[in-house]
Amino acid sequence: MNLICPICEKTLCRQDRSLVCPENHSFDIARQGYVNLLPVQRRHSAHPGDTREQVLSRREFLEGGFYAPIADALISAAEQYEASGPVLDVGCGEGYYCTRLARAINAELVGLDISKDAVRYAAGKYKDARWLCATAARIPVEDGAAGLLTSLFAITLPEEFHRVLRENGLFFQVLAAQDHLLGLKKIIYDELLFRDKVTAPELPGFALLESIPIRFSFTLEGKQVQNLFAMTPHLFRVSKAGADRLRETQTLTDTASCVLNVFRRT
Ligand SMILES: C[S@@+](CC[C@H](N)C(=O)[O-])C[C@H]1O[C@@H](n2cnc3c(N)ncnc32)[C@H](O)[C@@H]1O
Ligand SMILES: [Zn+2]
Repeated sequence: MNLICPICEKTLCRQDRSLVCPENHSFDIARQGYVNLLPVQRRHSAHPGDTREQVLSRREFLEGGFYAPIADALISAAEQYEASGPVLDVGCGEGYYCTRLARAINAELVGLDISKDAVRYAAGKYKDARWLCATAARIPVEDGAAGLLTSLFAITLPEEFHRVLRENGLFFQVLAAQDHLLGLKKIIYDELLFRDKVTAPELPGFALLESIPIRFSFTLEGKQVQNLFAMTPHLFRVSKAGADRLRETQTLTDTASCVLNVFRRT
């Protein structure tokens, strides 16, 4: 997959430990193996995206295998729909799902996240892929470069996703459903509010081929309860009392409920 310069949009070529464009904009390949392609003017805060603590909690939780059914569902769908690479994962986090998916279909992988900590940990563990710190709003790859694009519990920007996918390429989107992690929510919130949630969105430039429900239960003990909480957006929403109740929770049996939407780029 050819990468493009985030400043002038010309193709980047590797020169020693850097990526360089014809205009001589140069981006270092970090010691850990990722490249920072997020220009300062696109950074809305000093440390955009997930924090190191969130990334580490997610890694420890996912490595526990509790969400393996989601990885399995992605691989089954890729096989069923005969997906082919290159794979581009937007909002890749620490790389758990996309590396398993790309390996299963034997495809080249590029993972992209706005959080430098996320791609740093992804690059540290998964050496057989390329990792970019970049924004989904302006993906630094050439038009039509990807065969399979994934956004898993992350942002969806249909216009930009359409640009970077080749014609007939596939887009896998995983969204949490209304009843995702109800056990956790019952502990941290005094009252549960149910807003209507669209889990099979219409996306311009894409045809929805299938909406696959993924539902399974699991039991967590001790630190993994806190890890699950820390990797969700609830971390920033709960009251102190809610967070205290969770800290005292030693065992949690819960149900993950999400949807895998399979889209084809038209
Ligand atoms: C809920 S996490 C999911 C991570 C990973 N896909 C997973 O399921 O393990 C969402 C990720 O999106 C990243 N993110 C948020 N806004 C982004 C943006 N504008 N461009 C790229 N990544 C973004 C965050 O840093 C975070 O790593
Ligand atoms: Zn350039």
